[in-house]
Amino acid sequence: MAGHVLCLLLVSAIFAHADNSVPTIAKDFVFTFFNAYLNFADKPGILLMALVSNNNNGHANVVVTSPFRSFTTIRVSVAPYSVLKIPIAPQSLQAQFPGYNITADGRFVVEDKGIRLQSDLPVAVYAHAEVYDGSSADSFLVIPAIHLGTQYVAVTSTYPLYPNMIAVVAYQDNTRVTIGNQTVTINALQVASVASWTFLSGTVISGNKPFAAISGCTCGDVNIANCNYEAVMLLPVVGWGTQFVAIPFVYLTTNWYQVVANTNNAVVSADSTTIATLNAGEYRKFQIGAALVTSNHPVQLIQIGQSVWDGHNFISGPFFLQLPSTDKMSSSSVLFQPTGFIENTSVGHFSYFLRIVTNLAGAGTIQLDGTAIGALQFKHLPLSNFYYYELTTSNTTHRLTTNNPATHYFLISYTYGDVEGCGFVGAFDLPSTK
Ligand SMILES: *[C@@H]1O[C@H](CO)[C@@H](O)[C@H](O)[C@H]1NC(C)=O
Ligand SMILES: *[C@@H]1O[C@H](CO)[C@@H](O)[C@H](O)[C@H]1NC(C)=O
Ligand SMILES: *[C@@H]1O[C@H](CO)[C@@H](O)[C@H](O)[C@H]1NC(C)=O
Ligand SMILES: *[C@@H]1O[C@H](CO)[C@@H](O)[C@H](O)[C@H]1NC(C)=O
Repeated sequence: MAGHVLCLLLVSAIFAHADNSVPTIAKDFVFTFFNAYLNFADKPGILLMALVSNNNNGHANVVVTSPFRSFTTIRVSVAPYSVLKIPIAPQSLQAQFPGYNITADGRFVVEDKGIRLQSDLPVAVYAHAEVYDGSSADSFLVIPAIHLGTQYVAVTSTYPLYPNMIAVVAYQDNTRVTIGNQTVTINALQVASVASWTFLSGTVISGNKPFAAISGCTCGDVNIANCNYEAVMLLPVVGWGTQFVAIPFVYLTTNWYQVVANTNNAVVSADSTTIATLNAGEYRKFQIGAALVTSNHPVQLIQIGQSVWDGHNFISGPFFLQLPSTDKMSSSSVLFQPTGFIENTSVGHFSYFLRIVTNLAGAGTIQLDGTAIGALQFKHLPLSNFYYYELTTSNTTHRLTTNNPATHYFLISYTYGDVEGCGFVGAFDLPSTK
C-alpha cells in the first residue's frame, strides 16, 4: 500500500512538471544587447550575433526584425540539426551605444532597439557579443516570449569598471515598465535602459505586460582590475527556485556568485551554512566551493566567471552565467555550439568547457554526440542527489541527449581566452506564462 502511495505521488509529481514547464525552445523571441563597447577610442567595434539551434529534422525558416532605423530584416533558413550564427548589425543597435558617451546617471533612455526573432519551427536562441579584438565577450540564452514575465530583479557587477546596465524590451504595445523608482510606457520592441556607475543588483523591474529583461555590466569584474562584458537574460520571478547546484568553474576550488531575492526573509544556504538572509530587492555576493545552494523562498542565482591561471593557458575574463534551480532541469535534447569566436592568436587558443549537471538517473544515461558518458565519470555533489561531469571540448556543434525519461539535466557551455570569458546555460525547462 505504501508502495502504491509513493508510486502515485511520483506519477503526479512527473505530471505536475510536464503540465507546468516546457523547454526554452520556441518560435518567438525578443531581446536586445546593452552596451558592450569599451570606452577606448582604439577598439575596433563589436560582433553581435544570434545563434539559432535547430534541433529538428527540417529547415527552420527564421526572420529577424527590429524597428531600429538602419536595421535590415534578416531572412534565413537553418539546416536540420544545425546551429546557425546570424550576425546582427549595425553595432549601434546596442542600447545606449556608443559607450564613451554614456552619462550613466541612472536615468531611463528609451530607444527603438529591440530585436525580434521568429521561426516556423521551435528553436533555441543564444545571444553573443564580442569585441572584435577578442578582449571582451559574453553570451546568454534568450528566454522565449512564452516564458517572459512581468517581474524581474537585476544582477549587475559589484566592481564595474564601465557602467552597469539594465535593458528591458517590450513584447507588446503600451507596456508600462518600472525599473527601481522610474516608470515609462513603451511599445513593442522599444527598449528602456538605465546605465549607472552604482550597483544595480537587486533593482526590481516590473511591468503590466510580459517583457524581456537583460542586465549586467559593460565591463565588470569580481574584485580585480581585469574587466569583461557580463550579460545575462534575467529569469522572471515566476521562473525562480529554491535549490541550485553550484559548481566552481574548471581550475577553481571556490567561485563567486550573486543571489537576489523578491520576498522578505529569504534565507539562503550553501549545504548547511547560512550565507545570507535577504529582503525583497536585496542581493548578496558570496564565494563557495561545490555546494547545494538552497533557500526557503525562490531566489535567482548567477555564477560569475573568474580569471584563472592554470600554468598553460591564460584562462581569463569574468562573465555572468544564469543557474536555473534544479526543478528546471530538462530531459529534452540540447543542440549547441560553444561561443567565443575572436582569438588573440599571439597568446593562444580558446579553451571550451562543458558542465553537465544531472540527477541519479542521468549518471550513465546521457549521450554527448551519440556516445554515452559512463556513470563513473560523474562526480557526486556531496549532501545532494545530484551529479556533475566536466570536460573540455571543441568549438563545433554538439548534441546532448538521453533516452531515459527519468533523466533530467542542465548543460552549461563556457569559454575562456586571453582576457575574455563567456558562457551560457543550454535549453532548460520553465513554466509557460502564456
Ligand atoms: C557625445 O555626445 C556629444 C553630445 O551629444 C556629441 O556632441 C558628441 O559627438 C558625442 N561623441 C561621440 C564620439 O559620439
Ligand atoms: C594579444 O596578446 C598580446 C600578447 O600578450 C598583447 O600584447 C595584445 O595586447 C593582446 N591583444 C588584445 C586585443 O588584447
Ligand atoms: C531614484 O533612485 C535613485 C537611485 O536610488 C536616487 O538617486 C533618486 O534620488 C531616486 N529618485 C526619486 C525621485 O526618488
Ligand atoms: C573554431 O576555432 C578555429 C580557430 O581556433 C576557427 O578557425 C574555426 O572557424 C572555429 N570553428 C567554428 C565552427 O566556429
